[in-house]
Amino acid sequence: MHIQFDSQHRFFHLSTSEMSYAFGIAADGRLRHLYWGPALSSDASLLPLAEASLGAYVPSKGVDFLKDGVAELPTMEPSDYGDPVLWVRHPDGTRGLRLVYESHTIENDRLTVVAKDAAYAVTVELHYRGWADLPLLSKWLVIRNGEDGTLELEQMKSAAWQLPLGWDYRLTHLTGNWGCEYTKNQLMLTQARTVLQNNRITCAAAQQIPFFALDQDGAATEESGHVFFGVLHWSGNFDITVERQFGKLVTVTGGVNGFDTKYPLKPGESFETPLFTAGFSNRGFERMSEVFYDWQFDHLMPRGKKIDKAHAERPVIYNSWYPYEFDVREDNCLALIEKCAPLGVELFVIDDGWMPKRINDKAGLGDWVADPERFPHGLQAISKACHDKGMLFGLWVEPEMVNPDSDLYRAHPDWVIHDPTRPRILQRNQLVLNLARDEIRDWAIAWLDDLIDTCQLDYLKWDMNRYVTENGWPDAPYDEQQSLSVRYTKNLLAIWQHLNEKHPDVLFENCASGGGRSDFGMVPYADRINRSDNADPVDVMVLHEGFSMLFVPKTAGGAGNIAPARHHIHNRPTPLRFRIHWGMTGSMSIGINLLTASQEELDELKKGIAEFKRLRGDLQDAYVYRIASATRHPYALFQYVRRDRKAFTLFAFSHGMRCWDLPMPRFRMRGLLPDAVYVCEDGRRMTGEALMNIGVEVPLKGDCDSRMDVWRLEKA
Ligand code: DGJ
Repeated sequence: MHIQFDSQHRFFHLSTSEMSYAFGIAADGRLRHLYWGPALSSDASLLPLAEASLGAYVPSKGVDFLKDGVAELPTMEPSDYGDPVLWVRHPDGTRGLRLVYESHTIENDRLTVVAKDAAYAVTVELHYRGWADLPLLSKWLVIRNGEDGTLELEQMKSAAWQLPLGWDYRLTHLTGNWGCEYTKNQLMLTQARTVLQNNRITCAAAQQIPFFALDQDGAATEESGHVFFGVLHWSGNFDITVERQFGKLVTVTGGVNGFDTKYPLKPGESFETPLFTAGFSNRGFERMSEVFYDWQFDHLMPRGKKIDKAHAERPVIYNSWYPYEFDVREDNCLALIEKCAPLGVELFVIDDGWMPKRINDKAGLGDWVADPERFPHGLQAISKACHDKGMLFGLWVEPEMVNPDSDLYRAHPDWVIHDPTRPRILQRNQLVLNLARDEIRDWAIAWLDDLIDTCQLDYLKWDMNRYVTENGWPDAPYDEQQSLSVRYTKNLLAIWQHLNEKHPDVLFENCASGGGRSDFGMVPYADRINRSDNADPVDVMVLHEGFSMLFVPKTAGGAGNIAPARHHIHNRPTPLRFRIHWGMTGSMSIGINLLTASQEELDELKKGIAEFKRLRGDLQDAYVYRIASATRHPYALFQYVRRDRKAFTLFAFSHGMRCWDLPMPRFRMRGLLPDAVYVCEDGRRMTGEALMNIGVEVPLKGDCDSRMDVWRLEKA
């Protein structure tokens, strides 16, 4: 990102080859937003906007912002009645901030503007950073209290995004619940506030992913149109408010959710908000996804020390959960390992059930040692058996939780989030540890480090299976009790950061009852995401569409995306080939019972794993184009195009085809080199131009039919 300050006209221009963003300093020091949209090659192009918007505040009537310009950082200044990014209570009881520019620094792709309250010793740093030439900009704030008393933060969001004025916008957002994450919702904005938020503390994405996209006139498609989009880097209570005011002024504010939250800033203390990153696509939703992928691959995903994890292929996993649930023992694990190795499995994972008394979900959470009865030689014996076979070894944990029937709870009943006067409500027979307390953060770090080291773990699956119901913290000083949700999430992310730093080559999976924490707060720390506990391959036709809008497909995990023949959610039978094809679209994991599988099934699995390994490089460093949606058709098509455009693989899945759905169209491919010739493994030969304009035939029939067509450049 290129950052330029025009000192004569006093405005900043932040630009990449696809996007420009500009704001300026008004004559009275207030920061005014100027522009966000397609790239402007010259700063001079911004002069008319600067001249129109950078005057001093003039008291007026009517549509004030049209005369006054729109705020870069809304704080309910005069004439600004939109949702404020910041709202504070000063020690003397005065409320709000009136910020004026004080100074700025530019260092490469980072800009920091320091603004100061006109009457109080409070400074706010507005941070901006770019990501190479991607059309993305991250914004966040640091609030410093220089007053003599406590500054109470009542609203502490990260940033505001002002949309080009006067347009109608359609909002796209992703919602869900257990088993049906990433449901795409679209609505035209009216003059109202639309609030996307979570107030369950432990996770957000099971209900609402901290993401928005706004397209002009609701006209964008996958391939065309202007789309403004953003994500929050926060894995807890969040708030993204999309507000349209009179005059079609559309503003998105986002950050920490102010519900039931106050954060006391003592004299001399500062508060740093999470990042809020937004971007611009001039080529519909598919460019948005490409940008999200490049950003994750090349900037955000964990890198590792010996292995560049962001770019490395994910190992083929076997996970014990679907076939064995809590019934894991040394003997069945060792037998499974014997079966896994010849099939080509590369990582063996013991999921839930390995701790003392953990034979169901009623006990054991909190006591993070192996059950000596079921694992008489400890987990080290399992780890060694895996390593001896050349496989990696991984474990499941749920560090934020405790069962009342555990030694941990008996020793520390005060460690859970609770209200002293109310019953401690159980969900899945468990309570939530109060991670807002630093001693609990440190306890978790200590046992996790020890577990990873002593069991020589190569992989750790961090699960989380309930929400907060009574958000009390009676032991904290009265004025800090309502900072619980903020401190909880900060400590959660701090543990993940520590684990990554201390164990850089361990693979970490972000699981929260499935995709409950699929958010960009976790992306920098997790190599894999449990896309959903719903591994029913017909439902995955829809789930993968929403997931692939934001997240790199090679991270798409779960206990078994090659699910049992009848996955428990619908109990419908599905062919193994259909499930293997799904396994290939993500981070392949096998969740079927290998000890009871027929030889025929084992042979088919072995063949599928070998085929996946042959293609894995093409599939995992790829963009995914959503060619046909199962929300509209009885089929779903996903085209995986290598990022260097040298090969692509088309996956096609059908369920519930009827005569009315025939003949199927020729499907136009995307993202190819138009002049190059691509050859399919079945012998077809077409130019990129023909593939993208004429398209390809994809014969599918009936229920659970699937195809995988691999195409490569003729002259690579
Ligand atoms: C919920 C997870 O999403 C599953 O994959 C599995 O790990 C279970 N919890 C174990 O209790």
